[in-house]
Amino acid sequence: MGKQIRVGIAGLGNVGIGVVRVLSHNSDLLLSRAGRALTITAISAREKNRDRGVDLTKFDWHGNACDLARAENVDIVVELIGGDNGVAKDVVETAISNGKHVVTANKALIGHHGTNLAKAAELNKVVLAFEAAVAGGIPIVKALRDGLAANRVERLTGILNGTCNFILSNMAETGRPFAEILAEAKALGYAESDPTFDIDGIDTAHKLSILAALAFGTEVDFANVHVEGIRHISPIDIEFARELGYGIKLLGVAARVPDELGGGIEQRVHPCMVRKNAPINHVSGVFNGIEVIGDFVDTTIYEGRGAGQGPTASAVVADLVDIARGLRIPAFSLKATDLRPPNTIPMGRRVGAYYVRFMVVDRPGVFADIAAVLRDHDVSMESVLQRGRSRGERVSVVMTVHETREEAMQKGLQAIAALDSVVEPPSLIRIEDL
Ligand SMILES: NC(=O)c1ccc[n+]([C@@H]2O[C@H](COP(=O)([O-])OP(=O)(O)OC[C@H]3O[C@@H](n4cnc5c(N)ncnc54)[C@H](OP(=O)(O)O)[C@@H]3O)[C@@H](O)[C@H]2O)c1
Repeated sequence: MGKQIRVGIAGLGNVGIGVVRVLSHNSDLLLSRAGRALTITAISAREKNRDRGVDLTKFDWHGNACDLARAENVDIVVELIGGDNGVAKDVVETAISNGKHVVTANKALIGHHGTNLAKAAELNKVVLAFEAAVAGGIPIVKALRDGLAANRVERLTGILNGTCNFILSNMAETGRPFAEILAEAKALGYAESDPTFDIDGIDTAHKLSILAALAFGTEVDFANVHVEGIRHISPIDIEFARELGYGIKLLGVAARVPDELGGGIEQRVHPCMVRKNAPINHVSGVFNGIEVIGDFVDTTIYEGRGAGQGPTASAVVADLVDIARGLRIPAFSLKATDLRPPNTIPMGRRVGAYYVRFMVVDRPGVFADIAAVLRDHDVSMESVLQRGRSRGERVSVVMTVHETREEAMQKGLQAIAALDSVVEPPSLIRIEDL
């Protein structure tokens, strides 16, 4: 057995305490797998005297987490504080510049600063590992970096936020509206008191930008990810989707655009309609699911718990074991200095099918007017559904349209929204062919 490896944990909240528990509960197993003991030597949080349900008295306490990142008796700094800036970033930068390996679960930090942190880690010859930052317990970072290393990834599609998936799954099961299910998710602890990052798609976009960098060997480009959340999804859209043979999921999609179509990488987060029997449509509740298509392996699918103490700590400790074993793989598969900007393509260039719902006043000629506008924008209809027929009343008209460029679709919708008989902004959901 080799020399023990000394771990300092900055942040003793849900995940931090989970890591303390795993290291203590599975210490023998970890020793035999890593070939050396993983020993916690130092800890840091805001409140020293808070009862955290585990014995922390034998570890050195640091009131300032950056002191832990410099401490002589720490080989690996585990950053579990959170946030894309401030103390979390200071701790990680301090650790790297002091020659310590870093393990973090912080998707916001890696989403915003992943490329620069990877470069700094490489310069200082230390590891930067972040398996826990994406999809909790699912080893998707290792799958992309190691298991699929032989492949050119063509496309990656993921349900990467358990809160959104819980809300959408429950809306589909119960027919109840978004706000009601969100309140329930908060009461059950599946949504934060401020759920903005989750329900507006930002958390999914942080994770997607990290996975895209790994999949395509590019810099992390969170700033250019197209992001939409799920606030506007209504029970009526879910009902129509069902009737048309689809489910609605918040997906992160990263795909290689072939050179003949202009080249680049699509990176987008938005609600999608997916075929009822598509594997990803069966990922329900707080679970995460990811589909990766590689040129030789074809389609691979990963599913599991995307958050929570046990799954997230499991991923953090797996990174600790890798470091203890001596694995030194670049954070994003390639040397950080070889990563190139991804040429993330603007949303207007997406080509795909669409679902649109219009709320119109039911009178003669309305449908012909809508059809004429779509035709003028080269948008070709596939199917039409109408609910209720009541002269002079508001009714829903639903259409699916064939593959169309997003730009044309949006222009067509703007023109339709301006028609007198259209009484609400149209609701658009993209259909993904999975
Ligand atoms: N929770 C999950 O399921 C999950 C899943 C995947 C990834 N993550 C990521 O894991 C990280 C931690 O999440 P969490 O849920 O464990 O958060 P949390 O429960 O809110 O814990 C945060 C911890 O950071 C400590 N902290 C805050 N400011 C600090 C400072 N200035 N110096 C030192 N410590 C400070 C807090 O100290 P006090 O306890 O003293 O207040 C607390 O112990 C985040 O990046 C999060 O995005 C979480």
